[in-house]
Amino acid sequence: MSYDIALLPGDGIGIEVIDATLPLLEDAADLGGFSVETTRYEWGSERYLEEGSMMPEDAIETLEGYDAILLGAVGHPDIPDHLTLRGMMLPIRKAFDQQVCKRPSVLFDGIESPLRGYEGGDIDLVVFRENTEGEYSDAGGHEHRGYPHEVAVQTAIYTRQGTEAIVRAAFEEATAREGHLTNVTKSNAQAHGMVFWDEIVEEVAAEYPEVTVERLLVDAASMDLVRRPDEFDVLVASNLFGDILTDIGAIVSGSMGLAPSANINVEGHSPSMFEPVHGSAPDITGEGIANPLATVLSISMLYEHLGEDAVAAALWDVVADQLSDEDAPRTPDLGGDAGTKEVVSDLRRRL
Ligand code: NAD
Ligand code: IPM
Ligand code: MN
Repeated sequence: MSYDIALLPGDGIGIEVIDATLPLLEDAADLGGFSVETTRYEWGSERYLEEGSMMPEDAIETLEGYDAILLGAVGHPDIPDHLTLRGMMLPIRKAFDQQVCKRPSVLFDGIESPLRGYEGGDIDLVVFRENTEGEYSDAGGHEHRGYPHEVAVQTAIYTRQGTEAIVRAAFEEATAREGHLTNVTKSNAQAHGMVFWDEIVEEVAAEYPEVTVERLLVDAASMDLVRRPDEFDVLVASNLFGDILTDIGAIVSGSMGLAPSANINVEGHSPSMFEPVHGSAPDITGEGIANPLATVLSISMLYEHLGEDAVAAALWDVVADQLSDEDAPRTPDLGGDAGTKEVVSDLRRRL
């Protein structure tokens, strides 16, 4: 068996964590007895500064044939974010119909939560974020600028197909986990899209009588992720709400540097993409101290998606093992003084 993986390091620490973890991607393949062929594409903000675009025009055709994509991060301090992100990453999620974004938040043994009274194992939740429409939809967006009454219109679109896809994926996950689903919306203020969303959740819920469904408004859900993160199992939310909830989930579980994510094409006709939740972190770029573990866990999710469950579990377990060892190297976000490469070398030894 051989897999073709496209590597998109992108910008900033995205490049650092992809470069550092590549040997582990290959070690894992050796361990699993399959081979992995990687192709690296130098797309991103440097290309934008030189050539005026983040990716070539045929980028999507180029990526189409891969078994999976591994992305670092996108974003450059000298370029407006809407140009870089809408020039890379976001169009890939949309073009490949990666409607389901799966983002686990786990408080590992040996990691200190900024919340008082939580220990390893206490937080173990997963957010299912709708990934291609909702508040990130571009349809109908426009602006009239330069007039006395300037206006900008930003529409949110919820299709039945897209909403059902994320909701169904979340119910499936809840069935495989503890059977508890939290539906996060803002139906008290957003009477069109969010009420429609709630109705779809109710319809799909009827097919999963064994799953208990809790409804929370997004403001209350944000509070409860801080107040009682241990009580969540699976959460399902729209694109923007899922984005916000997963940064909260990441930090209550210790660090942005530990949060992985999968952007999944459910039908399997196009590649899925795996990436850490964090961004390009210009504040620490070039220092060699970015935490690579979010990327390692994303590689674990990549292999799980490809059906290589044993290898996926081995990668996940080796991260857990390292974190539970108080003598193991740690990056500064986890209170240590080790660099990115040292953490990866230690992981390779353990693997
Ligand atoms: P960020 O995630 O890059 O950084 C937030 C904070 O977390 C920073 O203090 C950073 O140092 C820290 N951090 C993040 N990842 C870390 C890691 N692996 N190890 C140690 N510390 C880590 O978010 P931001 O500062 O809001 O955004 C920076 C840029 O990244 C912006 O251009 C933004 O648009 C972009 N961004 C891209 C993605 C992506 O490509 N998926 C995600 C989020 C933000
Ligand atoms: C993420 C990021 C992106 C998002 C941004 C950079 C467009 O925050 O992957 O969480 O909102 O999806
Ligand atoms: Mn985000």
